Amino acid sequence: MSSERLQKILAAAGIASRRHSEALITAGRVKVNGEVVTALGAKADADTDKIEVDGRLVSVAPIRSYYLLNKPRGYLSTCFDPQGRKTVLELVPFTPGLHPVGRLDRDTSGLLILTNDGAFTEDLTHPRHGVPKTYLAEVKGRPDTPAVERLRTGVRLEGGTTLPARVEVVDRRKDTTVLAITIREGRNRQVRRMAEAVGFPVIRLERAAIGDLTVGELPPGQFRPLTDGEVASLRKAAKKGTAHG
Ligand code: URA
Repeated sequence: MSSERLQKILAAAGIASRRHSEALITAGRVKVNGEVVTALGAKADADTDKIEVDGRLVSVAPIRSYYLLNKPRGYLSTCFDPQGRKTVLELVPFTPGLHPVGRLDRDTSGLLILTNDGAFTEDLTHPRHGVPKTYLAEVKGRPDTPAVERLRTGVRLEGGTTLPARVEVVDRRKDTTVLAITIREGRNRQVRRMAEAVGFPVIRLERAAIGDLTVGELPPGQFRPLTDGEVASLRKAAKKGTAHG
């Protein structure tokens, strides 16, 4: 957690209202790391600083939120866009510190996790952890066996060759083909660049799964909280990736 005004922390911890917390501070009843703090602008970090009121330790058990969103196309996976375009934060309840775990392109739909738990985000997105992510990619044309094999073994892209991927042909349509592609990396526009590099550009892209978690029946634009079991299973997937990495 980052630094916040002391009165906000005390109010969040249920010590007193924000105004009453200010009165406690100015009265010299609040200590941060053993020092009395009387300035109202003073900040502290509830996760790392020792905060006391009248000599009693304040405990702030942070409330962690985890949401699964079926991201529709047309939304940015950022917290704020200086150009005022729509962001995924508009689709979930306002929660301090909430952010998307990794990114989907504006034109990619599907499974996106949002949380205010930075350590969880780090676990899921760190390349070393290699959590598998499955995409359904509708590509132009009919990729032949050598093209599919190249996607599986590794495609040379700017920034290096991709790691081995699981690739299945899910559906052959008249002019397009749907591929299920599972990768353990999260490079910028990776699936689009891989498909382009083997000559079959993506025309529609959807993330279907992260680890064992799938978007299920959730309609585009809708969200639901993750269950404790799902959060634990994603953490486990990140650990497993490290063990195999
Ligand atoms: N790969 C892409 O090309 N785009 C995404 O949004 C995610 C993975």
